[in-house]
Amino acid sequence: MRILVLHGPNLNLLGEREPEVYGTMTLAALNAHLRRHARKRGASLRIFQDNCEGTLIDLLHRHRRWAQGVVLNPGAYTHYSYALRDAVAAVGLPVIEVHLSDISRREPFRRRSVIAPVCLAAIRGKGAGSYLEAIDRLAG
Ligand code: DQA
Repeated sequence: MRILVLHGPNLNLLGEREPEVYGTMTLAALNAHLRRHARKRGASLRIFQDNCEGTLIDLLHRHRRWAQGVVLNPGAYTHYSYALRDAVAAVGLPVIEVHLSDISRREPFRRRSVIAPVCLAAIRGKGAGSYLEAIDRLAG
């Protein structure tokens, strides 16, 4: 199973960014954890982080023939990016939206995802476990 993992804006600052919300694990540590987990499941990962909406869309387009599934944390784009939503719908891959925090229990503007309706599933509020569960679902 070939899985594309996309981390959206501000996730490069994991570990120092609002640790009370997002935890203390850095993005590099999270990615290493995901790679170890994927290896055990026989899955191979391509992992990217970008702060720009257009770049995330380009990455989805560019890897659409390689990837058999996508784990996507769209960051704040979750709540308003119709362009990213359209890209998810356009590539026709099984995409699982993930969040470290439980967006349904945070500020009102975070409670809505415009991307989740075109995803296979959304997994929230489990920290790194959200990503691990998404890999398991795709690889399983
Ligand atoms: C997030 C939740 C979003 O609301 C926020 O903008 C993020 C991170 C999460 O993983 O919990 O950047 O996607």
